[in-house]
Amino acid sequence: MGASVLVVSTDPQGSTMWWADRIGEALPFDFADAHDDPDSLANLRTMGAKIHVVANQKGGVGKTTITMNLAATVQDTIKSNGQTRHIFIDTPGSIEDERLLAAALDVADDVFVPLPPDPLAFDPTTRTIEKVIKPRGIPFKVVINNWDPRDSKVDMLDTLAFIEAQGWEAAETAIRRYRIHTRAPAEGKLVTQYPDNGTTLRAKQDFLRLALEQGYGG
Ligand SMILES: Nc1ncnc2c1ncn2[C@@H]1O[C@H](COP(=O)(O)OP(=O)(O)OP(=O)(O)O)[C@@H](O)[C@H]1O
Ligand SMILES: [Mg+2]
Repeated sequence: MGASVLVVSTDPQGSTMWWADRIGEALPFDFADAHDDPDSLANLRTMGAKIHVVANQKGGVGKTTITMNLAATVQDTIKSNGQTRHIFIDTPGSIEDERLLAAALDVADDVFVPLPPDPLAFDPTTRTIEKVIKPRGIPFKVVINNWDPRDSKVDMLDTLAFIEAQGWEAAETAIRRYRIHTRAPAEGKLVTQYPDNGTTLRAKQDFLRLALEQGYGG
C-alpha cells in the first residue's frame, strides 16, 4: 500500500536525497527527486493531495529539516488508505535556482517559510516572500526554526516583532534547536525514529504540534 505522504526534492544540492538514502528501507513516506526535471512537478496536481512547499532562498534555515521531519510526523499521524494525502516539496536555498523554486510554487497549495531567530536571515527571507511568494498569491506561513530556548529571549522577540511588522503570519509552533536534529541525517533517522528520552520527546512534540496546528492529523 502506498504511503499517505510524498516528499519531493527540487534541490540540486541533493541533501534531501542523501538523507533519504541513509534512512533506506525505514523511510516511512514516498520520495522523489525532481531537480533535473522541474516540469514533472505539474503531474503532482493530478494526485489529489495537498501540496506544501517549504521555501526560503536564504540557505541553511531548515528547509530540509522541516520538510523531512514534518513529512514523517504527518505520515505517522494519519491512517493510510493507500492514497497520497500530503506532498511536501523541499526547494533550493539559493537565488540562482529560482526556476526550480518557481516550478514548485506553481503547484503549491501553501508555503512554509522557515526562519531562524537570526536578524541576518531577515532580508533574504523578505526577498523570497515579497518577490517570489506573494506575487503568486499563495498562502504562506513563517515557521521559526532553530530556536534555542536556553538563549536570551531577545532574538525570539525581535523575530516575532519583525514578522508582525511585515504583516506576515507565523505558525504558532516554533521548532526548537536540538543537536539530535543536526545529527539525524548522518544517522539516517527522522524525528519519528529518535529513541525516546526527555530531549527527543520535546523534539518530536514540536513537529507534532506543527502538524496538528496545520490540521494534518487524523
Ligand atoms: N531545529 C534544528 N535543530 C538543530 N539543527 C537544525 C535545526 N534546523 C536545522 N538544523 C541544522 O542546520 C543546518 C541547516 O539545515 P537544513 O539543511 O535543513 O537547511 P536548508 O534550509 O535546507 O539548507 P539549504 O538552503 O542549504 O538547502 C543543518 O545542519 C541542520 O541539521
Ligand atoms: Mg536544504
